[in-house]
Amino acid sequence: MTTVLLTGATGFIGGAVLAHGLDSHPDIRWVCLVRGSGAAQAHDRLLENLSRFMEADAARRAIQRVEIVVGDITAPPSLEDRRLDAVTHILHLAADTSFRAEEHCRRVNVEGTRALAERARRMPHLSRFLYGGTAMICGGNPPPLVRESDPPAPAAEHIVPYTRTKATTEAMLRHEFADLPVIMVRPSIVTGHRTLGCIPSSSIFWMFRAGDRLRLVAGELSGGIDVVPVDWTAEVLVGLLVKPELAYDSYHLSAGMRKRTTWGDLAAAFERCDPQGGSRNYSNFSAGDWRLLRARFQMAFGLNGPLQIAMLRAMRSYYQFSTLGVAFDNDRLVTEGFALPPTLADYLPACLSAPSGLSIIDQFADDLGMFDGVSESLSNPVAA
Ligand SMILES: NC(=O)c1ccc[n+]([C@@H]2O[C@H](COP(=O)([O-])OP(=O)(O)OC[C@H]3O[C@@H](n4cnc5c(N)ncnc54)[C@H](OP(=O)(O)O)[C@@H]3O)[C@@H](O)[C@H]2O)c1
Repeated sequence: MTTVLLTGATGFIGGAVLAHGLDSHPDIRWVCLVRGSGAAQAHDRLLENLSRFMEADAARRAIQRVEIVVGDITAPPSLEDRRLDAVTHILHLAADTSFRAEEHCRRVNVEGTRALAERARRMPHLSRFLYGGTAMICGGNPPPLVRESDPPAPAAEHIVPYTRTKATTEAMLRHEFADLPVIMVRPSIVTGHRTLGCIPSSSIFWMFRAGDRLRLVAGELSGGIDVVPVDWTAEVLVGLLVKPELAYDSYHLSAGMRKRTTWGDLAAAFERCDPQGGSRNYSNFSAGDWRLLRARFQMAFGLNGPLQIAMLRAMRSYYQFSTLGVAFDNDRLVTEGFALPPTLADYLPACLSAPSGLSIIDQFADDLGMFDGVSESLSNPVAA
């Protein structure tokens, strides 16, 4: 029997994976490693997240088919649970994805993954270990097209420590755990859901709305950005888990050149969805033009509250990523038979309409955990 150990099931992508996996593969046994003060709390946390992706009753029924192991990848004794001995496949998505907490990112992403890999060595039936990386392991100075075969670049300059720790983790898995059946799966930017919009999470979507409000796009106006919806990401991850043979050991879960969201298409989609907002004549923000970003931000949102200051700092990081204008090749994924994702312009209507009534600032507030440097920005608003 296929027994999948899923880490990160209380997160954005992990929740989508669990919802899709339970629905599409009733034959799979799901074991989720969940943090919590005890079994009841871990159960409630998982149920709450699952309910973002399905009706509450369906989630209550579905969770009965999940084995919950209360644990933490940074606490190796919690990985000793004997139920993990039966695992045949691992999908490791747990990570500290925040943009500022360097030491914590290293402890969770590198050391936590090492602890899990050590435990995986003692899973006698293990046939596949999917490691959830990120396409941004290429660092802050990538070639225009990053290939799935390109190795991680821990020594490169990185815009945020998070991506460096993910690159270090991949290199560590390749060098120290070459005996494990590890496959790297690297999403680009995951935002929204094709039908549920932002109900599961506003993660990063507020940034697209804010960029539209500021009429400011990063990089060339003729360019675009590689972004994919969470439900497509989940389908591909489950597909990669269960496909009997895989030809490669690393894949981009990306839009690639064919399905990149161009700024022109995004502008047109915003105009269609929000005609009262007027025509979208975006200007282009080139790297380092922080004054322009700040001035437009101040006009649109003000800069007098802690939330606004934190949001401006977060936008700076995302504009730095976007000005790279990088594309993530996905030929390997296509060769495996997976369908390409839609562009963000295609599913923008769902993201803007669900949930209804949330302001951009509300959506940023939902995503605030990503930006641990809020207290820093509070004490130093000028640096924002
Ligand atoms: N979202 C994206 O755009 C994107 C893009 C590229 C790559 N990725 C990668 O995809 C994966 C999932 O991302 P996401 O956006 O779903 O992240 P997320 O929403 O922040 O979820 C992170 C998950 O990791 C769990 N976790 C954190 N520390 C843990 C620990 N010490 N022990 C056990 N579990 C722990 C969290 O559990 P708690 O609920 O207990 O905190 C949560 O379930 C990550 O590896 C990320 O690097 C994401």
